[in-house]
Amino acid sequence: MQFTVAIDGPAAAGKGTISRAIAREFGFAHLDTGLLYRAVGAKGGNPVLAAQELTPDDLARADLRSLEAGEAASRVAAIPEVRAALVAFQRDFARREGGAVLDGRDIGTVIFPMAEVKLFVTATPETRARRRWLEADEKSASYEDVLNQVRERDARDMGRADAPLRPADDAVLLDTTEMSIAQAVDAAKASIARKLAQV
Ligand code: DC
Repeated sequence: MQFTVAIDGPAAAGKGTISRAIAREFGFAHLDTGLLYRAVGAKGGNPVLAAQELTPDDLARADLRSLEAGEAASRVAAIPEVRAALVAFQRDFARREGGAVLDGRDIGTVIFPMAEVKLFVTATPETRARRRWLEADEKSASYEDVLNQVRERDARDMGRADAPLRPADDAVLLDTTEMSIAQAVDAAKASIARKLAQV
């Protein structure tokens, strides 16, 4: 059985937590596609070449989760040739038995328009900034700084011409502003369980 779950949404909305929980619950493979763009940004040099030459080893670098890597990722992600070079990697990942969950910005709209389940996970910028600020180890940036970064990242990810962040027409919207992580995970699991019962 091939069963693909596409999870899109802005930075710090809870996509990663939800995706990992779904992968565990249903035994699906999980690909955090933000890591691909982070790895391309972190490689330096020509981003198009970096994307064309990307290997799974590049995704294992320890520094990819930093704020700087996220910023660099968001910038290289606006280059159409970079996005094009990463399409096959993402589609190949899901071409395996047993189901896959991919999270990112354009999974339901561009990479897997035929995904069995599409979720668009969101929350207000203030909520996302507060979560990100609370989970940072050292509070070197103020909450206001983090909120500004979230807003800038949203503007870049939603405003780019190629594959901008937006919900697919048939995506299930999951606004996690007023939800606990557990509630958001439960809502996502319920959507998938419903669909799995039909295939
Ligand atoms: O999800 P993340 O914060 O790791 O993503 C980092 C950046 O990569 C994000 O700001 C935009 C880009 N990205 C993208 O354009 N398309 C994806 N499918 C995933 C990430």
